[in-house]
Amino acid sequence: MNEEAKSLPNAPIGMFDSGVGGISVLREAVRLLPNERFIFYGDTKHAPYGTKSKENVLALSRNVVKELLNLGVKAIVIACNTATSAAAADLRREYPSLPIIAMEPALKPASMLHQDGVVLSLATPGTIAGEKYAHLYALYGKGVISLPCPGLMEFVERGELSGPALNTYFDGLFAPYAKEKVEAVVLGCTHYSFLKKSIAAYFPCVPLLDGNEGTVRQLRRRLEAQGLLAPKDEKGGVELLSSGGEEPIARMKALLDADL
Ligand code: DGL
Repeated sequence: MNEEAKSLPNAPIGMFDSGVGGISVLREAVRLLPNERFIFYGDTKHAPYGTKSKENVLALSRNVVKELLNLGVKAIVIACNTATSAAAADLRREYPSLPIIAMEPALKPASMLHQDGVVLSLATPGTIAGEKYAHLYALYGKGVISLPCPGLMEFVERGELSGPALNTYFDGLFAPYAKEKVEAVVLGCTHYSFLKKSIAAYFPCVPLLDGNEGTVRQLRRRLEAQGLLAPKDEKGGVELLSSGGEEPIARMKALLDADL
């Protein structure tokens, strides 16, 4: 088994999530790093991660990283806030020479928009209960209301990015804050980036912040610093894999190509 990152610039980059959510990060990555090849792994069989224990998500993440390393990747992107919170620190200890880039709920950029109103921060129960989030909250949590959203990623998995059932979910989630002055909404789960249009209908003109572009910029910096950026004449591309068989791959592809 290949336990080491393949440190060749033209090796692919491995990216994973519990399902289709990480495709929102992949879309950004393909845009900003057109010469790179990406292998995206959706661990659909074990989704959702956000309502599982930290130990369970760590074990699942370890397995996915092993699979990706066996495919010869030069770096790993954890395109999942929940897996970042549960596993990034351990994985970095276990693979010290492997570039591992991960997500962060956008509380820091949101704190710059906060004045006298509130910031709503949406993430999975696992992310909000985690140490990483507590640390971020201690630094940038002024005015932030944290909203765990069990069941929300499932809408995205089903390809239901709008519609009455989703609106009923959001009505319940947002009703207590109807009278608040909402200054920003943090999308702290990569699945939720696909729900921007539906969420924007509740908060017209309010910035909706995800960490996708920041993560990809960090990926580019790390690859550059380690001499691992693909050469400019390399033809980039995407390979999609799933622990759940062919059907989730078709949904991933549809979201990758969607005009959102
Ligand atoms: N997309 C994931 C995240 O960013 C997790 C969704 C889930 O599996 O619960 O947190």
